[in-house]
Amino acid sequence: MLVQELAAKVQQPPSRYVQPEQYHPVSLAVSAEKPDPIPVIDLSRLLAADGADDEGSKLRLALESWGLFLVDNHEIETSLMDDLINASREFFHLPLEEKQKCSNLIDGKHFQVEGYGNDPVASKDQTLDWLDRLHLRVEPEDERNLVHWPEHPKCFRALLHQYILNCKRIKDCILRAMARALGLEEDYIVAQFSNKAPSFARFNYYPPCPRPDLVFGVKPHSDSGVLTILLMDKDVGGLQVLKDGGDDGVWYDVPIVPGALLVNVGDAVEVLSNGFFKSPVHRVMTNQERERVSVAMFYRLDPEMEIEPAAELVDERQPKRYGKTKSKDYTTRLFETFARGWGHEPMEP
Ligand code: SIN
Ligand code: FE2
Repeated sequence: MLVQELAAKVQQPPSRYVQPEQYHPVSLAVSAEKPDPIPVIDLSRLLAADGADDEGSKLRLALESWGLFLVDNHEIETSLMDDLINASREFFHLPLEEKQKCSNLIDGKHFQVEGYGNDPVASKDQTLDWLDRLHLRVEPEDERNLVHWPEHPKCFRALLHQYILNCKRIKDCILRAMARALGLEEDYIVAQFSNKAPSFARFNYYPPCPRPDLVFGVKPHSDSGVLTILLMDKDVGGLQVLKDGGDDGVWYDVPIVPGALLVNVGDAVEVLSNGFFKSPVHRVMTNQERERVSVAMFYRLDPEMEIEPAAELVDERQPKRYGKTKSKDYTTRLFETFARGWGHEPMEP
């Protein structure tokens, strides 16, 4: 059943959504004091930077410590971002029969990655997350499956297309700045993308949840790909990021900064950078009063491509921390995290 329908019906979340006691969202404290806030990077200054100046070093520090940052001055019109969030919300508010036209179930039962619905359920022990989603493969452009793209609201497809073009520009600019910050050739990361590299847009819908103390909107995970660009609800927060990993890590609220997008790196960048940049573990909390919408753009490498640390970043002082692995194995690992219900584990060196 979709979480949206469930939320309208039940007073208590069904047991399949309740985290085991040791993982209850409330038992994991969020730091009240914030010694160093999540950095905000000015994209126009980053474009002009040569890696050694302020914005380039700010980017490097952000990715070494947080694995993510907010970006502003990116030249996406505020109206485009607002319209896309509103169109997404409108889609999720449509009658179920209309949304089911984009269903992620073939013949009503066989799961496929693209489309509208729940995330895959791999085992009956899996603790489920409190959200519905619409997941669309948006690149390569000639491989779009428009059957999954909503026809309503009418503006949806055009807005998404426009937004994708803008994100692509931002992504390339950031990947070049990241390579410079690592002391690599500017095009080192961009060149890893073949014309088969897929990117996905994922629209997340979190209905209000009667027990935010027991249930996650999205359980802790790191993203498997290269880069994620996240457009967040302007009014309702919920995203948190784990800083300084492991058992001593502290969870921080990601603030809502009007007009800014959130950018985080994924596992592929942690590997390529030989661990200099962190793929951050993050999660989404629910709340009792208000629904929340977000739109994530995921940039991945060709699934068959092998990734390993850049040779320039390996030496005696910093030996190779990760072996050669196929890009798709990191995606499989992400799905396994979800199938276990909990349990982000640090990446195997
Ligand atoms: C996610 O990381 O999967 C979702 C992020 C969000 O909705 O804020
Ligand atoms: Fe994520």
